[in-house]
Amino acid sequence: MNGLIDMHCHIVPKVDDGAQSMKGALRILHQEYKAGVRQIILTPHYRLEMFETPRDEVEERFFDLQDAAEEYFDGLELYLGCEYHAHTVMVKDITTDPRYRMNGGDHILVEFATQDTENFMKSRIYDVLSCGFIPIIAHAERYEAVRRSPDVAAELADMGAEIQVNADSVIGTNGFFLGMYCRKLIKNGIVTYIGSDAHNTKDRACHLTECRQVLTKKFGEETAERLLITNPAKILR
Ligand SMILES: [Fe+2]
Repeated sequence: MNGLIDMHCHIVPKVDDGAQSMKGALRILHQEYKAGVRQIILTPHYRLEMFETPRDEVEERFFDLQDAAEEYFDGLELYLGCEYHAHTVMVKDITTDPRYRMNGGDHILVEFATQDTENFMKSRIYDVLSCGFIPIIAHAERYEAVRRSPDVAAELADMGAEIQVNADSVIGTNGFFLGMYCRKLIKNGIVTYIGSDAHNTKDRACHLTECRQVLTKKFGEETAERLLITNPAKILR
């Protein structure tokens, strides 16, 4: 298996609740690198009234980190994305500024609030799709509407959304039942990506090594490779 691709993490320093310094950011990158990750899409939060760091500033900090990373990590490629918290007028942002998209491309990593209704989620997914973009539902396992039944996740996927789950959830760090639930989604073929959603090197660290082991054991090498390499690579294409 070649280098893994992490498509969801918070490593750009001082722009959200992820890395709080360049040193901290490099520590997370070190952890990713040790886990075998060789391409990372960094996805700082954008959320109204909570994380509103201007994209110019985010971009500037990203470029600084990219420069620093080049010195320390041979062959590690960094790309800039965004985790966009859904709201009713998000279409304006995602159509006018490519920095709200994944590496400026066609994919939007969309985050919802835990209690958002199924209808709200479907409406926002429809919004993104009607602009010609592909919505990726960030850590889908976190939402009450999705947890209610695997059928809801399947319906969202049928609409054209792609489903991402967190490595921590898959390996059971976020609870035994959530782990079971994630693995059921994977078994049903509904999951497109697994990301680390790393925010630091401690309580929200990169656990892609463990995740890769679990996936390989439960579903085989091919599934592990698809969720951790082949599918994420399509975002970058
Ligand atoms: Fe995140």
